[in-house]
Amino acid sequence: MICSRWLATLLGGSLAIQGTLAAVTVQVDDENSLKTAAKTVASDMMDFYNSRDSKDIPGKFDGTWWEGGSMFMTLIQYWWLTGDSQFNAAIQAGMYWQKGDDDFFPSNYSQYLGNDDQVFWGLAAITAAEVNFPELSGQPSWVSLAQGVFNTQVPRWDTSSCHGGMRWQIWPYQSGYLTKNAISNGGLFQLAARLALYTKNATYAEWAERIWDWSATTPLLKQKNWNIADSTTCETQCTDHGDWQWTYNYATFITGAGYMHNYTNGTATKWKEGVQGLLGSSEQFYPTQGYNNAGGNVLSEITCEPIDKCDRNQKTFKAYFSNWLALITTIVPGTSDLIMPKLRTSAQAAVETCTGGSNGNLCGTKWYSRQTDPANELALEQEMSVLGVLNANLIRFKNQAPLSADNGGTSKSNPNAGTNSTNQQAPIMNQVTTGDRAGAGILTFVFVTGWAVAVTWMIRGG
Ligand SMILES: *[C@@H]1O[C@H](CO)[C@@H](O)[C@H](O)[C@H]1NC(C)=O
Ligand SMILES: *[C@@H]1O[C@H](CO)[C@@H](O)[C@H](O)[C@H]1NC(C)=O
Ligand SMILES: *[C@@H]1O[C@H](CO)[C@@H](O)[C@H](O)[C@H]1NC(C)=O
Ligand SMILES: *[C@@H]1O[C@H](CO)[C@@H](O)[C@H](O)[C@H]1NC(C)=O
Ligand SMILES: *[C@@H]1O[C@H](CO)[C@@H](O)[C@H](O)[C@H]1NC(C)=O
Repeated sequence: MICSRWLATLLGGSLAIQGTLAAVTVQVDDENSLKTAAKTVASDMMDFYNSRDSKDIPGKFDGTWWEGGSMFMTLIQYWWLTGDSQFNAAIQAGMYWQKGDDDFFPSNYSQYLGNDDQVFWGLAAITAAEVNFPELSGQPSWVSLAQGVFNTQVPRWDTSSCHGGMRWQIWPYQSGYLTKNAISNGGLFQLAARLALYTKNATYAEWAERIWDWSATTPLLKQKNWNIADSTTCETQCTDHGDWQWTYNYATFITGAGYMHNYTNGTATKWKEGVQGLLGSSEQFYPTQGYNNAGGNVLSEITCEPIDKCDRNQKTFKAYFSNWLALITTIVPGTSDLIMPKLRTSAQAAVETCTGGSNGNLCGTKWYSRQTDPANELALEQEMSVLGVLNANLIRFKNQAPLSADNGGTSKSNPNAGTNSTNQQAPIMNQVTTGDRAGAGILTFVFVTGWAVAVTWMIRGG
């Protein structure tokens, strides 16, 4: 947070010299208008990225590691939908630099990462494969990097409590080791389902189904009312529930179910039912009362926005919700009418928040407010979410399903990727360097001073 404030000042200052004051505008039914708005927002996002303290380390953000993966995922979609390749070199540099032993578990950070942190990079890699994002020779293929994440996560499937499930964090000394959460399980579920559709290898589909079925035995996926609890604990055998409602938890299960529906040729009704059920319960993120008269048409992170308590992680979730849901409209016939109208009105509201900073373009957190954020809170995360919803609307125009190995996808499968990894042993505590501790310390500080109880259930950055 301290960093963001510093960056906003710096960025505002440098752009003010150019003397252009503008606001982003968009006609959501006009593809070119969407592209122009997306270009402005993506450029502002990359200005934040390029001014970070750790800019000598490709793909590493200050104070967080996972957001690199989710930002590249969003930018890869941006390239695919607009053809604007100006950020491709930065995407490639960051993705390859952080690839670890082809598993996105680089030793600099692996001591304190969670399964959710790692899986976002895997989702970025499968996204790249599905759109034939350019690969560099001498580097592992995008799909193999996604397989590397799958191959390192599956051995962590934990049957010592709750009869299964992915723990949130990986090492016993991490506080999140004792919880199993929706995004770690839903993230691997989605990754497995996408690998199944891309490679047609049934092993991935079996894992996707295993994760879904297991989740349904816990509060993480309550099929009775399609509620998704954020987390549950090993201690209670996964019977208790941290009930904060987050957009990305719903979106990751919806998306995985959409891919499984397509992979199974629609023969298993459970996937379509899952998509429909969870789309129904996701309506809660389009509040109908209050919210500046949003009237059920503006996507909101309802747990933190009304009380102004969204942390940097949470400010990005709407990017994934928008992008992933729009994506499945291309592979699950009949979902477009359920998904797109509200993403259309949400995009309109989202760009109305982009009036901040010295360039007059920086976006706010609360789309329904139709106002930007206070100057000291303007940051990369808000840009990412708005780019996500603009991408989502561009998917309507592109209307092209994800590629797969038997349907134009050129990224080559390597089912053994990541199995050579050297970082899968629990590290010895005194090997955690001062630098790592400092990173963790900053996060702890934010948690304690912020919103400790709620955030305990969240991705801890890393
Ligand atoms: C790991 O840390 C070193 C030292 O700061 C840095 O040079 C290197 O780029 C980092 N690697 C990754 C993958 O971030
Ligand atoms: C889906 O249909 C295709 C084409 O008929 C077939 O090759 C494939 O095996 C089917 N997939 C599944 C999972 O049944
Ligand atoms: C799967 O997606 C393709 C688009 O690639 C679509 O034509 C097909 O109808 C989908 N299959 C099912 C069962 O919905
Ligand atoms: C399918 O994936 C599994 C798990 O990674 C792997 O062991 C197997 O070799 C793969 N099969 C093919 C035909 O690629
Ligand atoms: C594992 O490492 C060896 C030696 O470096 C290499 O020859 C092999 O291709 C690697 N396997 C995989 C699956 O990456």
